[in-house]
Formats: sequence, structure tokens, C-alpha cells
Amino acid sequence: MFKFHYRLERSAIGLVAFIILVASIGGFIEIAPLFTIDETVEKAEDMRVFTPLEVAGRNIYIREGCYACHSQMIRTLRDEVDRYGPYSLAVESQYDHPQLWGSKRTGPDLARLGNKYSDSWHTAHLYNPRDLVPQSKMPAYRWLLRDQLRTDDLGNQLAALRAVGVPYTDEQIANAARDAYGQANPDSAEAPGVAERYGEATNIRAFDGNQGPLTDMDALVAYLQMLGTLTDAAFTTETAEAE
Ligand code: HEC
Repeated sequence: MFKFHYRLERSAIGLVAFIILVASIGGFIEIAPLFTIDETVEKAEDMRVFTPLEVAGRNIYIREGCYACHSQMIRTLRDEVDRYGPYSLAVESQYDHPQLWGSKRTGPDLARLGNKYSDSWHTAHLYNPRDLVPQSKMPAYRWLLRDQLRTDDLGNQLAALRAVGVPYTDEQIANAARDAYGQANPDSAEAPGVAERYGEATNIRAFDGNQGPLTDMDALVAYLQMLGTLTDAAFTTETAEAE
């Protein structure tokens, strides 16, 4: 063995060839799983895309760094499934660009947060977490209720997501700003279009407690209330039943 290496080091070409061989074994092991990607990502016929308001909320989630303390991925471990619900499937992050799985949990996982609390709970909690959870370490995000949401760029945001594979229609892109307003203003003329374009199951409510002009709070709460509700796949696949 050592003799072999001793001789190999004396032949420059032989050494280079051997390095390439060994490095390509490592490379192949990393790349091989990608050949089965079509079978790895489950199919979910009921999977819907994010609404423009949810996209705006997602951008705020990224802007405020929520991912630094919260993960959005439930692992297959028993204690996680008991605490948070069925473990996350690849298809559930299919339209997440970039994905927000996170790598640290100072606070709890949020992958199945949708419908767990009321909108007013979220609004109050984000305004000051300690009003609801006295021992909370989470920062207060008071400006979310004050700041008006920018919506004129949402059409471009959807178009950018379409460029990386999210199946937005021309109609959804053209109506992005209108749909964002409608989703948080259930009594407005814009509201019915949201259900038409994104499905009856879409939440259409005054998320921050007030109808009228949109705030950052409307967008973020709409996003949080949607988490884990885009598809039932995790609750219906064989793997989930086996749990
Ligand atoms: C410094 C770390 C930290 C940051 C940053 C942070 N959180 Fe939290 N979060 C926590 C902790 C700790 C808890 C648990 C205590 C509580 O409920 O307040 C929590 C709880 C929550 C809960 C309740 C979850 C549940 O299932 O009970 C939600 C929702 C939440 N955070 C959303 C957010 C959002 C949205 C942001 C970004 C605007 C954010 N957090 C930023 C630490 C953080």
C-alpha cells in the first residue's frame, strides 16, 4: 500500500490521473441522487402557488430575518412529528425560491403554523410578543402595523418567480396588485377575483384587523396563516399514514 503511493508520487501523470479518479468518485456520490429527483419530489395535484399578498409577506419574513430563529422544516424524527405534525415533504417547498428551511430554532418550527392561531393573535404577538408570551425572547416588530405595503412591484415579483418555474398565469401577474388589495379587503370589489384566481380555500380577511390600505402586517400575517396549507400531501401520502 505505502509502496504503491511511493511509486505513484514519482509519476506526475499517474498521480494526476489518480487524483482525478478519486475526486470523481466523491463527485459522483454527490451528484447521483439528483438523477432520481423526479421520483424524490412527490406529486401534489392540489398544490397552489402563493398569492401576491403572501409573496409580499414572504419578502417581509426574509427582510426581518425571521428565518434566523425559525425553521420551516419538520424532520422525520418522532418527537418533531409529535410536536409539529406530519414531517415536511419536498413538494411543499416546490415553489419556495429561495427555500426557507432555516438551520436554527430559537423559536419553534413554523412549517405547519397556518390556522393554528387567529389573525389578531399574530398581530398582537408581532407587535409585542411579551404581551402574549411573557417569557418570550422574540423581538417586537411594531413598524409592521405602521408601514404601508408596497404593491406596485408585485407583478414583477410574480414574473420573476415564473422565470424560475412557478406556474403563474398572465392573468395572475397582470392582477397582482389588485389581488393583494382584495385578499385583505373582503368587502371590496377586488376580493372575488382572488378566490377565482387562487382557489376557494384562499384566506380572504382583514389580516391586521382593519380593511382599507394595506400594511406590512397584512402581508406577513397572510403569509403565516398560509404556511403548511398549500397542499394536503403530507397528511394523505402513505408515509404520513404509516406514522
Ligand atoms: C431572536 C429570535 C427570534 C426572531 C428573530 C423571531 N422570532 Fe418568532 N419566536 C421566537 C421565540 C423564542 C418564540 C417562542 C415564544 C413566543 O411565542 O413568543 C417565537 C414564537 C413565534 C411564533 C409562535 C409560534 C408557535 O407555534 O407558537 C410565531 C408565529 C413567530 N415567532 C413568528 C415570527 C416572525 C414572523 C418573525 C419575523 C418577523 C419572528 N418570529 C422572528 C424567536 C424569534
